[in-house]
Parts: sequence; structure tokens; C-alpha cells
Amino acid sequence: MALPARTTLACNPRSHVTEAPATTPIPSKYAVSGASGRLGHLAVESLLRRGVPADRIIALARTRAKITDISSRGVQVRHADYSDPATLIPALAGVDVLLMISATDVGQRLPQHTAVIDAAKGAGVRRIVYTSTLRADDTKLVLAPEHLATENLLRASGMEFTILRNSWYIENYTDQIGQFLAKAKSLGPQWTPRLPGRPARTTPTPPPSP
Ligand SMILES: NC(=O)c1ccc[n+]([C@@H]2O[C@H](COP(=O)([O-])OP(=O)(O)OC[C@H]3O[C@@H](n4cnc5c(N)ncnc54)[C@H](OP(=O)(O)O)[C@@H]3O)[C@@H](O)[C@H]2O)c1
Repeated sequence: MALPARTTLACNPRSHVTEAPATTPIPSKYAVSGASGRLGHLAVESLLRRGVPADRIIALARTRAKITDISSRGVQVRHADYSDPATLIPALAGVDVLLMISATDVGQRLPQHTAVIDAAKGAGVRRIVYTSTLRADDTKLVLAPEHLATENLLRASGMEFTILRNSWYIENYTDQIGQFLAKAKSLGPQWTPRLPGRPARTTPTPPPSP
């Protein structure tokens, strides 16, 4: 899908807001940061699955040893640490479009994201795609201010950008399936898992058999 130069996408991709028109040339090189994490790894796999040649994908990782499976598929893996700006410009050399996965260090994200955006600009990256959060500009979610500040950095950067206002990831729950199953086993069938913010439900005890 060709995207305008400046776009904000809510989790429903049809509800995107175009912030400025432009033509979108086909990228020559894609880079994915946080490629050793779940989302970054899935993004690299998705590019490969969609037929993007491996030599047009660059996986950026703080911990390269975690993604030997990616490098073995012909994708170049480069070291990039958001906290170490010296690693960022070389990591982004020759990159056309960067998927910048938001950092995990809450409270440190803004300086880290600033370093990535500055380096991308310095390296000549054309577009940054950033993983923000739903309603970053009017939610009370404590994680939102760093996302909104990053969005605003992108708006002020003069670069092309796409902001993905992602919703809550299903992995926040699926990662806990093992714990749920272990607890269910120890507490028995009357216990059912409770999602955060939802009341606990218990399975009614069946009446004794006559
Ligand atoms: N919307 C939601 O529900 C939700 C839920 C969870 C997370 N998130 C956000 O979405 C992002 C991706 O989620 P995920 O599930 O893929 O998280 P994840 O599996 O924890 O992966 C995080 C990735 O960020 C990398 N990273 C962290 N700090 C870094 C730094 N200083 N420099 C370079 N890379 C760094 C990690 O590298 P290492 O492998 O070296 O640690 C890892 O590759 C998270 O970072 C978080 O901001 C959103």
C-alpha cells in the first residue's frame, strides 16, 4: 500500500489520518529495529513472507546473538542500541524506511527515540514507521506521554513518517498461558484466569448428584 508522507494509523488501518500528501517511491532497503523482540522479529518475517528480498532487509538489534535465525536467512543484522547513539548512524546507513519499534525502558524512551530519529535523519532515512499507542493524544494511559512526545518529534523532523497507534498486544495475555495453566492445575477447576481490570469469575460448583 502506498502511503502518504505523513500518516497516523489507528489499529483499524482504514482509519488513517493523512498529515501531508506526497508520492511514495518503492523503498530500496527496509530496516527493523528491536528485531530481537517479538514484534520486530514478526515484522522481519512478514517482510520475507511478502516477498521482499532478504538483501533488502536490515535487522537492527541490541543483542544480535538472539537473531541468528534471521541472519541465516540472508538478512543483514546490525548492532543498534538506542542508548548508544554512536551505534545508530552506522546501523542506519543506506536505509530507506525504518520500522522503529518503541523502546522498553519506560522513562528513558524519549531520549532513546530522539537518538534514533536524529540518527535516521543524519543517515538519510526517508521514512520512519513508529509503534505508538492508541489515542496517544487523549488517553490517560501512563505510557502515552512518551509515545505522544515521540510522535511530535517525528512531526517536527521534516521526515516522512507513519505512526502506528497500536492497541494492547495479545501477547500480554498469551505469554501468561503457562502461568494460567499451572495455577488452574494447582487450584482446580473452580479457578478461571482473570484478565487485568476484569472481575474474577468462578465456575459454579455443580450440585451434588442425587
Ligand atoms: N501495545 C502493547 O500492548 C505493548 C505491549 C508490550 C510492549 N509494547 C511496546 O512495543 C514494543 C515491542 O513489543 P515486543 O512485544 O516486541 O517487545 P519485546 O519482545 O520485549 O522486544 C523489545 C525489543 O526492543 C529492544 N530494545 C529494548 N531496548 C533497546 C535499546 N536500548 N536499544 C535497542 N533495542 C532495544 C529489545 O532488544 P533486546 O532483545 O536486546 O532486549 C527487543 O528487541 C515494546 O518495546 C514496547 O515499547 C506495547
